[in-house]
Formats: sequence, C-alpha cells, structure tokens
Amino acid sequence: MRIIGKKMSVVLALMASTSMAQAEDVEVLHWWTSGGEAAALGVLKDTLKSQGIGWIDMPVSGGGGEAAMTTLRARVTAGNPPTAVQMLGFDIQDWAAEGALGNLDDVAAKEGWDAVVPPALQAFSKYDGHWIAAPVNVHSTNWVWANKAVLDGLGIAQPTTWDEFVAAMQKVKDSGKTALAHGGQPWQEATVFDGVVLSVGGTEFYKKAFVDLDPEALGGAQMVEAFKRMETLHSFTDANFSGRDWNLASAMVINGDAAFQIMGDWAKGEFLKAGKVPGTDFLCFRVPGTDGDVSFNSDQFAMFKVDSEAAKAAQAQMAADIMSPTFQSAFNVVKGSVPARTDVPNTAFDDCGKKGMADLAAASASGNLVGSMAHGHANRAAVKNAIYDVVTAAFNGEYDAETAAKNLADAVAAAK
Ligand code: GAL
Repeated sequence: MRIIGKKMSVVLALMASTSMAQAEDVEVLHWWTSGGEAAALGVLKDTLKSQGIGWIDMPVSGGGGEAAMTTLRARVTAGNPPTAVQMLGFDIQDWAAEGALGNLDDVAAKEGWDAVVPPALQAFSKYDGHWIAAPVNVHSTNWVWANKAVLDGLGIAQPTTWDEFVAAMQKVKDSGKTALAHGGQPWQEATVFDGVVLSVGGTEFYKKAFVDLDPEALGGAQMVEAFKRMETLHSFTDANFSGRDWNLASAMVINGDAAFQIMGDWAKGEFLKAGKVPGTDFLCFRVPGTDGDVSFNSDQFAMFKVDSEAAKAAQAQMAADIMSPTFQSAFNVVKGSVPARTDVPNTAFDDCGKKGMADLAAASASGNLVGSMAHGHANRAAVKNAIYDVVTAAFNGEYDAETAAKNLADAVAAAK
C-alpha cells in the first residue's frame, strides 16, 4: 500500500508541475543554435524559469534566420503560430501588417520603453504607433574579427584602410594560412557586402542603394568597385568555404587557422564561448574604410496573437524581462551585441562591447547609422533576397563586377 501511496504522490506532483507549466508555457521560435547564441539564449530561458514561465524551444538552425522565417510561415498558415518569435526589421513590419502580432502597449507604457529605445529601433518595434515587438539587442555587421597571434607572428598591424587590409590579407596568404575565413552562404556574402559597400561610398551611398533603391547607385561605378572588392575578398578565402556555417568560419579565426573574418558581432559570442579575450587573443575593428559608420540589425521578439489570458500574461512577462536593464546587460555581454536600451551602463562589457556601444551612440548622433541590408533592416524581404541572389552569384564568379552591378539594378527593380 505504501508503494502505491508514494507513486501517487509523485504522479500528483508531476501533474501539478505540468498543469502549472502548461498554463505559463511560451513556445519560442528562434535561430540561435550556435554555441555563443545558445549561451546567450540560456540567460533568457533562466530568467523566465525563475518566474515560473516554461520555455518550449523551437530552434530552426540557419544563420540569418531565412529557414526560421520559412518555418514560421508554415506554422501560421497551419493556424498554429508560436507564442513568440525572433524576428528582424522589415519582417516584423510585414507580420504586423498581416494583423498577426499582439499588442504590447500596456507593458511598454508600464516599463517606459518609449523613453529608452532609440528611434531607429522603434521604427521596427512599432506598427501604426503600437508596440508589437520587444528589442533584445543591437548587432552590427561591419566588423572584422582577427586572430592576434597570427597577425603578430607576421608583423601585421591592425589595418586602417582598405588597401592596408588587402595587403595584410596578401601577407597572410603568402605565409600559407587562410587570410579570410568565410562561410559561403548567401546571407553571409550579403553580410560581408554590407561593410564593403560602406567602405566604398559611406552611408550616403549605402542608403541611396539599399534604402532608396536608386538605380544609379545600384548599377553605377561605385557599386562596380564594391563588386571588385568582393572579388578581391574571394581570392583570400580557402577552397572549402562553400556552404560553411558562419560559426565554423569564426572557429577558424579562434583556432588560428585563419587571420580574419568579416561578420556581425554575434561572432564575438563564439570567441567568448571559446574563452578568448579581446585585445589579448583577438582584435575587433570596423571594416577598414567604415569607421564612424554602423550597419545595425536588432533581434526582436514579436508576440503572436494568442487567445488565453494566461498566454498573454506570459508574453507580457517575457517582453518585460527582455527589456529589463539587468537582462539587457547580462544577455548582450554573452551575445556579442549591445543593449537595445540607451540607459544600460557599459561596465559589464569587454572592450569590443564598449566600442560597439560607443560606435552606436556616435553613429546615431552623426547620422551614420544605417539598417543592415543583409539582415532585413534596409528593405523588405523580396528586395533583400533579390540582392542576396546577385551578390552570391557574383562572389562565386558567375559574372564580372560590371555585369554584377547591372544585374543588381535590374534584380532590385524587378523585386520592389
Ligand atoms: C542575425 C541575428 C543574430 C545571429 C545571426 C547569425 O540575423 O540578428 O542574432 O543569430 O543572424 O545567425
């Protein structure tokens, strides 16, 4: 009789915990599957768990989130959207326009988001004046990550101009090491292109091309030069770059098999996860020629419309957690990004994080903050994907720089 009694008490305890978890669970669709990304996500999971909110994980691997957005479309079409979804820029606006997202105005008002979230982010977090997403961070894409021992061993100083960068990569290549670690996937080529276009013509050219979609900017001489620089970068990659995941390219620099990687600052999360220290083991610097410019993308959690009050309460709690200054510091220190709020001190951040925060503030003040084309903050998905196709084809040598610029102008004209 005693055994039955004990089993019953275990079953009752499990039922209680399940029913508690059931009432509060949030199902979260995201693409944070690398080591550094998962470590950062753990901070959010633990925060919610401490408040009794269960986490049903729905990871969709694939950097940049293309696969995740495809999976999301299928879920919504089936009438079964997740509770919360990691989303970028114009994708948030498109889902809001479909009426699919819940309203976060109450928690935003209670927590004072309007006063602390920069206008550049609010442009994507709000639709029709209503908060429909909570910004977790601000990443930026025009970064170079370098293995310090490799540079020191070859007597290479941190390059400050494009020509110095090319000379440095040539010196690494001549030594027999891989100069540029790269993952051959369209979103990664586009991420590199963010910084290359900025290096050619600064934020004015960048905005004319990727925000205004001006045919002259897209197909003109400056864009030809940008594609020529992509050809140069291709000449410094290894033979096996095609299809490589971004975090494996980061690992090549972490391990000293390669000198440089051009990648968003989520790459720093991989260096930190590997126990590497900025300034000692690796360098972080802006793509040469883009100092003062920042090409940003903000990860936001959009809350899909749900029926039950308990689910709405869990969404509001998750949004409040995401926007808390404590979380914004703890998460971004691990993720490699900087806080979405302007009132978070930089004390917990390393030198690269402090530089990222200072660069963001300076670029915002100087008008040199641009939304990343590669990560959905310059234009809608159809235009972004048209640019992806041309940039990747050009990077893989399907056509020369002049043809690439013409094809870019044509492809964007057809997509917009
Ligand atoms: C970006 C996202 C980052 C990181 C990166 C690589 O779009 O904003 O948080 O996930 O993709 O997957």
